[in-house]
Amino acid sequence: MQGVTVIDHPLVQHKLTIMRDKRTSTAGFRRLLREIATLLCYEVTRDLELSDVEIETPLETMMAPTLHGKKLVFASVLRAGNGLLEGMLDLVPAARVAHVGLYRDPKTLTAVEYYFKAPEDIGDRLTIVVDPMLATANSAVAAVERLKERGAKDLRFVCLLAAPEGIERFRGEFPDVPIYTAAIDRQLNEKGYIVPGLGDAGDRMYGTK
Ligand code: PRP
Ligand code: URA
Repeated sequence: MQGVTVIDHPLVQHKLTIMRDKRTSTAGFRRLLREIATLLCYEVTRDLELSDVEIETPLETMMAPTLHGKKLVFASVLRAGNGLLEGMLDLVPAARVAHVGLYRDPKTLTAVEYYFKAPEDIGDRLTIVVDPMLATANSAVAAVERLKERGAKDLRFVCLLAAPEGIERFRGEFPDVPIYTAAIDRQLNEKGYIVPGLGDAGDRMYGTK
């Protein structure tokens, strides 16, 4: 599928299977989400530009590669996005962070915003939007619209699970924003849940219901 990368690394797939299992504890779910996030981060940043700088090793001077140019913003779609955010920050601690607070109205499935904060210079950075679930895509679309309004120009979307319906909607709205996901599941059910899925990501992360 154009613009969609499925990260099929065996470690990602193994950890995702444990997360899907309803017997996995809240603590286990949270730890696995953070671990998977580092692996997803590795893939979504694979093509970042490098440039050489001069350093001195204990033995001699050398030119060595460092990240060049545009720096990163991780934009977490609250609440569940924070699980991915933690792992991403483990790998890129200097990244800036945006928070987009959204919840899905359970009846209409539309996204309701309750918080927004983003760095001033977001337009000069690569923005990686993180949310474990892309279901109807109402939340992802609202988050990206808001970030674009704020000036973000270069965006990528990272999730754990995506429904075909959500991918189609998101790519239709934002053909310029590639999606990275660990899996594409079968479909949405009548309540807008991804099936087979993993349930409600926020509830499983925080032990709420
Ligand atoms: C979940 C999930 C996404 C959204 C996906 O959040 O983390 O943000 O649902 O569904 P959609 O693609 O149909 O919009 P939820 O609204 O349950 O909030 P939470 O993270 O606070 O639990
Ligand atoms: N949000 C979730 O957390 N899970 C789903 O399956 C759909 C939306």
